[in-house]
Amino acid sequence: MAQRESWATRAGFILAAVGSAVGLGNVWRFPYQVGEYGGAAFLVFYLLLIAFVGFPVMMVEFAIGRYTDRNPVGAMQQIGRGVWSKIGWVFLVAGFVILSYYSVVAGWILQYTVIGLQGNYAAGGAGAQFAATTGGLTSVLTHAIFIAAVIAIVAFGIQDGIELSVKLMVPAILALLVGLAVYAGTLSGAGEAYAYYLSPDPGTIVSNWSEILPAAAAQAFFTLSLGMGVMITYASYLGEDRNLAKDGVIIVGLDTLIAFTAGLVAFPILFTADLTETTDGPGFIFVSLSEAFSNIPLGGILGAVFFATVAIAALSSAISIMEVVVSYLIDEHDVDRKVAVGALGTAIFLLGVPVAYDQSSSLVWLVVYDGLANQILLILGGLLLALFIGWVATDLGLEELDKGVQDLGVWGQAWIWTLRIPVILLLLVVLWQNATGVYESFVGIFG
Ligand code: TRP
Repeated sequence: MAQRESWATRAGFILAAVGSAVGLGNVWRFPYQVGEYGGAAFLVFYLLLIAFVGFPVMMVEFAIGRYTDRNPVGAMQQIGRGVWSKIGWVFLVAGFVILSYYSVVAGWILQYTVIGLQGNYAAGGAGAQFAATTGGLTSVLTHAIFIAAVIAIVAFGIQDGIELSVKLMVPAILALLVGLAVYAGTLSGAGEAYAYYLSPDPGTIVSNWSEILPAAAAQAFFTLSLGMGVMITYASYLGEDRNLAKDGVIIVGLDTLIAFTAGLVAFPILFTADLTETTDGPGFIFVSLSEAFSNIPLGGILGAVFFATVAIAALSSAISIMEVVVSYLIDEHDVDRKVAVGALGTAIFLLGVPVAYDQSSSLVWLVVYDGLANQILLILGGLLLALFIGWVATDLGLEELDKGVQDLGVWGQAWIWTLRIPVILLLLVVLWQNATGVYESFVGIFG
């Protein structure tokens, strides 16, 4: 077998992981979750969950990936017995489904970048614009364009494809978003927006915590690319001498900073514009925000810059999902990288076609795919990982985390006990809530 690939530099690994983490989750999903779940109250839960659930689970994935130097399926076969040896498959299925619809949404983002350049957001009404974007052949075409870009990057491999591209993309995302946030801060609605976004209302927290908590947990997983082996895969290309926890803090910190900044862009713009059509949920940035762009000075150009930034962020995430499935074929079946990328890219494209072509106004297929993969498989994947390192392969986890640190001390036990009880309990509750929610929405759709 050919020599396995690895990152060229430490910055390469960190930027790749940040590129994976920063995506539609930060700029599309995060703002509408904040909007749906009570503004700053959501932000408080989200930050707590990032620190106490997301970070520990990220360390689990890093430890498994670096210990085994393999793709998630092979990694679990190597270190797990019985059912544990099979859980890599959950990740692979989740990756397939997530990338297929992620690419469709990214295709819409591409369309909105072009619409902004033409300067006519909401020309025929923001809702109508969104409806025209999300279904039919154009949507299939932009889905194809996006998948093609993912294929092109991943085909070049770890160093010349992923590492090189994230070194360009991640700094660009940061610079563009900070620029937009500064501009948004000069708008007349900024003060009101900051109050909504930044000062949590204790009443909202007390009365809605049971809804906010699972939503914030799901968001924490999605935004950190956890629960489907992305971080296992990326860490498998790492050397032994690195301090996993230190890299993790930087990655989590940058991802959180970027999500937070996305809110500093979105809310001032929304509070400044007089909106006639507002949409919660997946249509939020496409309808509410794009109509808002059409109402503010230089809105078309700003909108194009905003959506282009989101497109770049989506691309740097999508390549990480693709790498999970590709690494499986390369490691386990010795398939040539370019062949693997081409075949899997085509299959993922086809899987996404129902979501892309769907012309229903309620985006039925998007709801189905997102429900299955994001709300169930990811949480299940994270739960299994926490159980495995927390209760089954504890020594392996501790030993691996200690490499490059040398003196883990009480932090190792703190990590294991966080996984053992709070993380597992919380994920069980979230999984239960999500499963009932998804079941109800499926009954609503198909029943
Ligand atoms: N984290 C990315 C985002 O915020 C999405 C993503 C990439 C992802 N890879 C993932 C989500 C793996 C879950 C699992 O948009």
